[in-house]
Amino acid sequence: MINVGFIGAGDIASTHAAALAEIDGARLAVVFDRDKERANALAQQVGAKVVTSLDALFSFSGLDIVYILTPPSVHAEQIIAASQAGLPVMCEKPLTLTLVAADRVIAAAKAAGIPLMTGLTHRYHPLSARAREMLHAGELGDLVALWSHRLVTLSVSPTSWLSQRDRSGGMALQYAMHDLDWECWLGGEVSRVAANEIHTQSEIEIEDNLWALLHFRNGASGSVGVSWVAPHAHTERGVIGSQGNLRIIDQQRMVGQLKNGKAIELDLGDDYDWFDVFVRESKDIIDRIAYGQDFSISGEDGRNALEISLAVQRAAITGQMIALPLELATTEESS
Ligand SMILES: NC(=O)c1ccc[n+]([C@@H]2O[C@H](COP(=O)([O-])OP(=O)(O)OC[C@H]3O[C@@H](n4cnc5c(N)ncnc54)[C@H](O)[C@@H]3O)[C@@H](O)[C@H]2O)c1
Repeated sequence: MINVGFIGAGDIASTHAAALAEIDGARLAVVFDRDKERANALAQQVGAKVVTSLDALFSFSGLDIVYILTPPSVHAEQIIAASQAGLPVMCEKPLTLTLVAADRVIAAAKAAGIPLMTGLTHRYHPLSARAREMLHAGELGDLVALWSHRLVTLSVSPTSWLSQRDRSGGMALQYAMHDLDWECWLGGEVSRVAANEIHTQSEIEIEDNLWALLHFRNGASGSVGVSWVAPHAHTERGVIGSQGNLRIIDQQRMVGQLKNGKAIELDLGDDYDWFDVFVRESKDIIDRIAYGQDFSISGEDGRNALEISLAVQRAAITGQMIALPLELATTEESS
């Protein structure tokens, strides 16, 4: 039995707890949240214990891995503390808010010899992963362009950490990071980005629409568009190759054509539930802990996702084209 400890008992912790409950051989054993009522409520649902400090969590008997499910502004200190306690870490995205902090946590995990995983959940979506396999197997020819659009309605409370750029990283780090990471996972390194952000809700500090154009080093293009003010929700991502193309519609269906002329038609069904990606993610984490393997998505992957997201944010704020890799001083200013 793999024993998991949670730091944070908020929204995403509930989803991870439900996902762990689906996995044989793993259990949520212990929960710490600085809000004890939240910790109690979550722990009661799954029969976990509650502790009232990080130290108590780290010394919990038989603990195998820590999931860090708190706001990003505290990720760095918690990853470093868990590493120093010798515990493997899965930290939700964004890994940290700055590249300097990302380098610090990666170094801390390395020094302690513990594996560090970043929760870039979209990589576990079966169609998003299949698109990558098809592209990398050459079934679409050479990469020409990628796009990812997620348009939803999301109400952001003006008093929440999410609405404050210095605590959340804004929409670029909180939301578009998934789309940017997916495109870089498929397309490789980006040389420069342009972006525009639009604020439609004056009561929140951060943008609620973000649109970006990526230039990949291999010559391909990428675009990302995300909105939190679209009452008609719509999601689509896709790949154009030199000899084929595909698109994934509403995270349920993939259609397109391969370079051999064969049609692509994959359907997860109308009742496909995004919760599936969290089950797949935890199943992978638990298997890797059980077999002593490295995680599939490393701290370095989390740093790369952070770098492209910070570059897009900086491009949107300044209206300038931003070149990568970022200078560390620039990223510190922007976060
Ligand atoms: N992978 C995904 O698709 C996905 C989706 C949503 C959120 N997230 C990420 O998950 C993280 C948490 O988001 P959320 O929506 O669950 O937030 P939340 O506000 O619902 O929950 C955060 C919890 O952390 C607790 N907390 C805050 N500071 C703490 C501290 N210093 N020590 C202990 N507990 C502390 C709060 O009391 C709260 O219960 C964020 O990094 C967010 O970006 C990822």
